[in-house]
Amino acid sequence: MVPPAASTLPSSSSIGVAGVGTQEAPAIKDPARDTILTPRFYTTDFDAMAAMDLRPNEVELEAICEEFRKDYNRHHFVRNEEFDGAAEQLDPDTRRVFVEFLEQSCTSEFSGFLLYKELSRRIKAKNPLLAECFAHMARDEARHAGFLNKSMTDFGLQLDLGFLTANKAYTKFSPEHIFYATYLSEKIGYWRYIAIYRHLEKHPESKIFPIFNFFENWCQDENRHGDFFDALMKAQPDTVRGWKAKLWCRFFLLAVFATMYVRDVARKEFYEALGLDARTYDRYVIRKTNETSARVFPVVLDVENPTFWDRLESLVRNNAALAEADNAPTPAPLKVLRKLPFWAANAMQMARLFLMAPISSDQFQPAVR
Ligand SMILES: [Fe+2]
Ligand SMILES: [Fe+2]
Repeated sequence: MVPPAASTLPSSSSIGVAGVGTQEAPAIKDPARDTILTPRFYTTDFDAMAAMDLRPNEVELEAICEEFRKDYNRHHFVRNEEFDGAAEQLDPDTRRVFVEFLEQSCTSEFSGFLLYKELSRRIKAKNPLLAECFAHMARDEARHAGFLNKSMTDFGLQLDLGFLTANKAYTKFSPEHIFYATYLSEKIGYWRYIAIYRHLEKHPESKIFPIFNFFENWCQDENRHGDFFDALMKAQPDTVRGWKAKLWCRFFLLAVFATMYVRDVARKEFYEALGLDARTYDRYVIRKTNETSARVFPVVLDVENPTFWDRLESLVRNNAALAEADNAPTPAPLKVLRKLPFWAANAMQMARLFLMAPISSDQFQPAVR
């Protein structure tokens, strides 16, 4: 059977059942246990968002909205016969890491969908331009999440996104923190997808599943979303000006980079299955995202400093020790005791990473500012 296309999915509940058709119902996959490394769900101060004055950069935001209206990927996410039987080709180990990848990607796309959808709904009356941009982005993220979830059904699994919506813990961020976090996740998403796509273009033998053929246009969605937040921060220049903004930008850059690095190295088997080395891949993605961020953030991180990478490696080692303690057959109180020094070491490394001198974006990328 050729499954239907994962087209725009207007509500969260419809995503969970997209394209199941008449096939045997796939098993509902329990969402992965929440850890610091799993994707977060966000909420914010909707009144403050609605009251935002866009005039300082309205022309650019209107132009971006016009791009969104064109909906370039309207017909892109259509499954073809390449998917037929593709899941059965994977060996059990590759299958396990690939399903993990699908689940994590689907969850983070879906978390974007929920946030953008809610924002668009809540600010519609007071801030129609901003609301429209968010609605277009929610459309894109729903499509991405639906497409990933459909791939999970190829493996007989499905994420229950309705359950996830109701049961995930939501982290509340102020609007400017939402800007930093979502800008970074869109831009890092762009670099992650395009890096995999370009690598597989050169090494088609490593293309373990046809979903990767869709990454080129897909990442252009993420790039546009990132550009939207760039323009939005420029419409609210105080979000990227002054000492507070500098500290927060450093914090978010570090949090996003460190989380990705630790998570990806821990599941390096997935990257190996694609013929990639997780560390090399992540270093490339981090360098590129850092460079891109200099277009809007006042400061970026000194990722050319070898100490930066040494400290990330300490985090990797501490996290491996924490995972080992978690899996050991020890009673809970002893487990905590055993984990304590590694938590402390992680906190210390993060503090030292945070205190490393940043690079002023003016020096870093003067041509584009
Ligand atoms: Fe997306
Ligand atoms: Fe996005």
